[in-house]
Amino acid sequence: MKTFTSAADLQLALREEKNNHKSIGYVATMGFLHEGHATLLEKARKENDIVVLSIFVNPMQFGPNEDFETYPRDLERDENVAANGGVDYLFYPTVHEMYGEEPSVKVVVQSRTDVLCGRQRPGHFDGVATVLAKFFNIILPDRAYFGKKDAQQVAVIDGLIKDFNFPIQLVAVDTVREEDGLAKSSRNVNLSDQERMEAKELYQSLLKAKEAVESGERNAAAVTALISEHITAQTSGVIDYIEVYQYPELKPLESLAGNIIIAMAVKFKHARLIDNITLYIE
Ligand code: PAJ
Repeated sequence: MKTFTSAADLQLALREEKNNHKSIGYVATMGFLHEGHATLLEKARKENDIVVLSIFVNPMQFGPNEDFETYPRDLERDENVAANGGVDYLFYPTVHEMYGEEPSVKVVVQSRTDVLCGRQRPGHFDGVATVLAKFFNIILPDRAYFGKKDAQQVAVIDGLIKDFNFPIQLVAVDTVREEDGLAKSSRNVNLSDQERMEAKELYQSLLKAKEAVESGERNAAAVTALISEHITAQTSGVIDYIEVYQYPELKPLESLAGNIIIAMAVKFKHARLIDNITLYIE
């Protein structure tokens, strides 16, 4: 595994691989790698000649009161996970390397952002789209792998790739969970022991909603109420949102039909957790 901190050097090395007709799979992360990330790497490893991993805690996608400073970081551990995951090139740039003194252009995401995390985090998806446009241009991957845990992010990246004509195949990968169902996340380490026990209830509440839908519930408000009652009764978390939309359009619907997403965000003391399930309803 080769580690790069310079975008220009990485570009040069990857151009050489391209000249040798190697296919490139790319996994973008903010580090503190866990099995969710490892699963993306595994899939990239299987489907490409070369695997590139970026680790960059992107300040542009964090709001002023969010956890940019305290976002967990551990490069040494990440390097081991990366090497064991078959990464060929690890890109670990500084903020200055990515943004210089004062960037003059940014990407603004115009749709699919006024709901879910987008509504709660203004500018967040502009930051995600901007940094990914940069990474895509530096790496020029054939395929890029993203997790469905961040389903809205996948929808936004789908728009970025299509609208900006990136010649990249987007591969969306199922959410990887702990044994008790909690979606793996770098932020889970910020939960207290008590909160960690409660956190499994996010997925439990989604399963309860799924069961209700499968038994014939078609009213979106009834489904969100079911989840809300469960979370309030079983956890100390504060509900940020519980919403149901068409997926991937993220358009509202009153009566459930077709491809839908049931998504939630719950705030614990030092961690805001998100989770979702997608369902197809005849
Ligand atoms: P990060 O939260 O580090 O996640 C990196 C990738 O791993 C994302 O595609 C995310 O959806 C995926 N992922 C995280 N937890 C997962 C899980 N439990 N199962 C499956 N996949 C999972 O998402 C970001 O970073 C950033 O916004 C980024 C795309 C890197 C842009 O800065």
